[in-house]
This record gives sequence, structure tokens and C-alpha cells, in this order.
Amino acid sequence: TPGTPVTPPETLVTDKYAYAFDIDGVLIRGGRPIPEAVEAMKVLNGQNQYGIKVPYIFVTNGGGKTEQERCVQLSKQLEMEVSPGQFICGHTPMREMAERYSTVLVVGGEGEKCRHVAEGYGFKDVVTPGDIIKDNQDTTPFRKLTKEEYENSRVRNFSEVQIEAIFVFADSRDWASDQQIILDLLMSKNGRLGTRSETFDEGPPVFFSHNDVVWSTSHDLTRIGMGALRVSLEAMFKAVTGKNLETTAFGKPQIGTFQFATRLLQQWRKDTHGIDSPPDTVYFVGDTPESDIRGANEFDKCVDNNWYSILVRTGVFQEGTKPRFQPKATVDNVLEAVKHGMEREY
Ligand code: G3P
Ligand code: MG
Repeated sequence: TPGTPVTPPETLVTDKYAYAFDIDGVLIRGGRPIPEAVEAMKVLNGQNQYGIKVPYIFVTNGGGKTEQERCVQLSKQLEMEVSPGQFICGHTPMREMAERYSTVLVVGGEGEKCRHVAEGYGFKDVVTPGDIIKDNQDTTPFRKLTKEEYENSRVRNFSEVQIEAIFVFADSRDWASDQQIILDLLMSKNGRLGTRSETFDEGPPVFFSHNDVVWSTSHDLTRIGMGALRVSLEAMFKAVTGKNLETTAFGKPQIGTFQFATRLLQQWRKDTHGIDSPPDTVYFVGDTPESDIRGANEFDKCVDNNWYSILVRTGVFQEGTKPRFQPKATVDNVLEAVKHGMEREY
């Protein structure tokens, strides 16, 4: 009837399969979207020959901001809405540690951002390297706080503070001073600054939000990342104390991260698409064999999972080398990865 508004037909959402995306080196490089990324998202959102939408989530080892802030940024970069309900980053699972540790040192990231992330996770007393340098500037002979850092850092009496755990939330902006402070705590009596243990085995545990030794940025070649800080710290501890240091890393390729991602995807499919059953296949698109492909392949071997790893050539993995962990498929970019999965389904 003339004048009656025409409702466009609803695009069907498939319940059979889903996608999970790594971010750096797959969708983004050095803060800019990889050219095919925007198109790949459009295809999943219904612009495809099959006329269907496919649910998807994002699983990055990156971090340094709240999940909410990261999603606002990613939404702009990918020209579509990304919700925290479909997003996990390296430090997201650290949220669960807030019940266990109260006073913690949080390392990495810009300014006060990681302190805010940690407080948002429920950590009650968050110390930063800046607080420690403000209290005693001789802590780091070659690093002086900027005016802004000095103002933001909190004053406290460290002789009365016991630091129970160390969390590296994001890449360190000053390796030398951050490592000095971590080493001081590892060599202390029970996490009390200014003390020295006789045995060097009573320092707080150290947790890293991921273990990527290198990652993909705007430079043509890979750049060192948090995993490099981890090996460096472990080697330094050994050189100084003669003892081995065991640290823990979250993020990919840890199975716990893939379990977390599975729960997130399940919730996301239920809340946004009303799908209550698990997908038959999850296509996981990554650029780092050691994190993405290894993790997806190992998770795929666990009972009831079917994760199909796809390696792209736009990030850490480069043509001409043999990946240490073999993906189910290797394609040029994320758009090809999306098409590859869809073609397998029909
Ligand atoms: O620092 C982040 C980087 O190591 C990897 O991020 O998105 O490739 O998991 P992503
Ligand atoms: Mg990556």
C-alpha cells in the first residue's frame, strides 16, 4: 500500500559457525586498519552472497586501556560498532586475580591508564613504578619523573607496604627502571621495598598479560614486545641471584584464554543473536604462529572444541619463513580468511 513503511527483510544469522579475530597484524597495524579489515567486517555483517550474518569476537594479547576504551577505538578504526561483550585483551583474565591479591604493583602502559584498569578490575591497592620513584628518586638513577608523572604518582610509606604480586599489564615504556623496580621486589623480604632476602625466594609472583616476544606494528619488521621483557627479566634475575625465576603469562596461546574466549562467544551469541547452542566451528584468524596458531590448534584438540586456525600474511608471519606451528590454512589477509571460512561452510 502506498505510504506503508517498507521493513527490509531481516538478515539471517548463522548458528553453525563463528569467527574470532586477533587484532594486531590482522585488523590493525600501528594504529591504522589493515586495508582489507573494514571490508572483511562488512562481509560478516551481511554483505555477502549468502545473505547471512556471522557472529564474531576479538581476542587480542594487546591492552593498556579499559576494554571499553579499546572498543571505542576499534569501532572508529573498523567503521562499525564493537562492544566490550565481544572483546577480550591480554589483561582481561587478570580480573579474576583481584580476589587473591590486594596490594599489587602494576607495570606498563601510558601514564595512569593501567592503574585505572587494575582498579576497575577490583584490585584494592594499586602501586605503580611512579609511586615508588616519587617516594625515593634514587631508585632509578637514570629516570626522573616528569611533572605530570610526579603529580599523578601517589605518596605512601613503603616501609609499611607489602606488595603481594606484580602484574605487567602492558608494554613497559621504560624497561630499565621498570626492571630495576621488579628486581628489587623479587629480591626483597616478602615484597617489602628496601629489604633484601637472604634466599631470594620470597618475592611476589610476577604475571605478564601475554608472552609475545615480537609483534606487528607500523615498522616493516616485527618489534620486541612483552615476552621479550619477560625473558630479559628472567635472565637478569638469574645473573644477579644465581637462581631461576618462574613467571606466569596470560593471553594466547594459553588454553585458559581460549576457554575464556569460548565463554565470551557463547554469551555474545546468546545475548545479541538469541543462539543457545555452541557453534560447530570457530574460525580463528591470527598473524603470530607462536600465540594464535599454537593456541587455536591446541585448544582444538581439547574435547568438544572445533577451532580452525587461519594464518594471515599481514603481520608477524612473513612469506619465506616456515611457521613453527602449522595453521589449517594460510591466506594473504583477513578478507581472504573470512571468505575461506565461508566457502568451507557452503
Ligand atoms: O602487544 C600486543 C601484541 O603483542 C599482540 O596483539 O592483537 O596480535 O594479539 P595481538
Ligand atoms: Mg597479532
